[in-house]
Amino acid sequence: MDAELAQLREGLAARVVAANRISSERVAAALRAVPRHLFLPGLPPHAAYRDEAIVTKRDQAGQPISSSSQPAIMAIMADQLDLAPGQRVLEIGAGTGYNAALISHVVGAQGQVTSVDIDPDLVERARGHLARAGFEAVTVACADGAEGYSGRAPYDRIIATVGVADLAPAWLAQAAPQARVVVPLDLRGTQLSAAFERAGPAGPWVSRSLAPCGFMRMRGSLAGPELVITLAPGLSLLVPDGTRPGAPGVADAGALAGLLAGPSVPHPTGVRAGPAGVFWGGLGLWLAVHEPRSCRLNEELSPGDQGGLLTAAPLRGARGQGTLGIAERGGLAILTADLWAGAEPGPSAQRVNLETAVLGTAGFGPRGAPLAADLAAQVRAWDQAGRPGLPGLHVDAYPRSAGPDPAAGALIIERPGTRFAVYHD
Ligand SMILES: C[S@@+](CC[C@H](N)C(=O)[O-])C[C@H]1O[C@@H](n2cnc3c(N)ncnc32)[C@H](O)[C@@H]1O
Repeated sequence: MDAELAQLREGLAARVVAANRISSERVAAALRAVPRHLFLPGLPPHAAYRDEAIVTKRDQAGQPISSSSQPAIMAIMADQLDLAPGQRVLEIGAGTGYNAALISHVVGAQGQVTSVDIDPDLVERARGHLARAGFEAVTVACADGAEGYSGRAPYDRIIATVGVADLAPAWLAQAAPQARVVVPLDLRGTQLSAAFERAGPAGPWVSRSLAPCGFMRMRGSLAGPELVITLAPGLSLLVPDGTRPGAPGVADAGALAGLLAGPSVPHPTGVRAGPAGVFWGGLGLWLAVHEPRSCRLNEELSPGDQGGLLTAAPLRGARGQGTLGIAERGGLAILTADLWAGAEPGPSAQRVNLETAVLGTAGFGPRGAPLAADLAAQVRAWDQAGRPGLPGLHVDAYPRSAGPDPAAGALIIERPGTRFAVYHD
């Protein structure tokens, strides 16, 4: 059994490293060494070695509030962190403790790993998992990660494994002079794992690398302005700025769910693109910058479920998780994909290449038609602008406690602790 599990770990590490161009051999070695099944005792051991996120706790509405993240994104973020033996590392979001164990494997006995979680229950479980896997040296504390963990500061590396809308002043204060801070940063509904370093003693923190990701949101005092509205089991709407006038609120959940179950108005875009181009290639970022009503519809599809809960077929990513759209009170429009374009229905119909599907939009509700037209216009504008995406994108973070102000021409996102400047070079 042990040999079998070691082989599964080897396979997972090889796949993750190759598919995501992980450059750090230390990270690859950690994936090969750390027994993930001991951090997911509720699963049959072999199932822990799939490259999948596993939800480990949900709130009363059924929304995930803790998970073991997908190994691929953990490896990407560990690579972004530029981990090395001897470093002192703080993790926000201990969850199962597995990622802390990966980090601990890299920083070794001379290093130090501290991981905090807001949930006492999860802290207890993480401590148990770490002890069973031989990582007693990792300190797990129950705290709101917004405060960092001053008792073991300063840190050479700080990582959040939960989605944030801001950089907490405490993290920056607890960071050593040459520190790197890696967080899943929400840019109005599009989340990017951003690796920040100080540009200089008085300068901003600047992004050294950006990678797409999709983490559950931080709870507690640093919870962002985004709102997750549960429309039905497995179907939720993420509204990036739930405080914007005219934005749908939690009280609109029933009405929105009713609209989505009803008829929709289709609108063509004439643009061919697939989930990779749209989700990873920047349409989400484009909407974040140009469309204050942008939203994200998240679906949790059970295995084998092709249909989902919607009356129009949304454009779905490789793992099925939802689509982009725009929403206001009284209406919603989402991005759709005509995967069967030009094919005669029937058993021999060929699904078109997912990456070259024709994008459309579908509007729901009394405001559905104009919203579908607006969303289609944004898709065309993104296409005509050359489909700007991650290449050449920069995010600079200006702590409010320090100057100077961001240069003109960037998208400015104001948060309580930080002013973010987002721009292409
Ligand atoms: C995706 S899970 C982390 C996965 C974890 N690193 C692992 O390897 O299993 C996100 C975690 O962040 C925690 N969290 C949410 N808000 C938090 C906060 N304000 N402070 C600390 N932890 C928080 C959640 O309880 C959850 O366990």
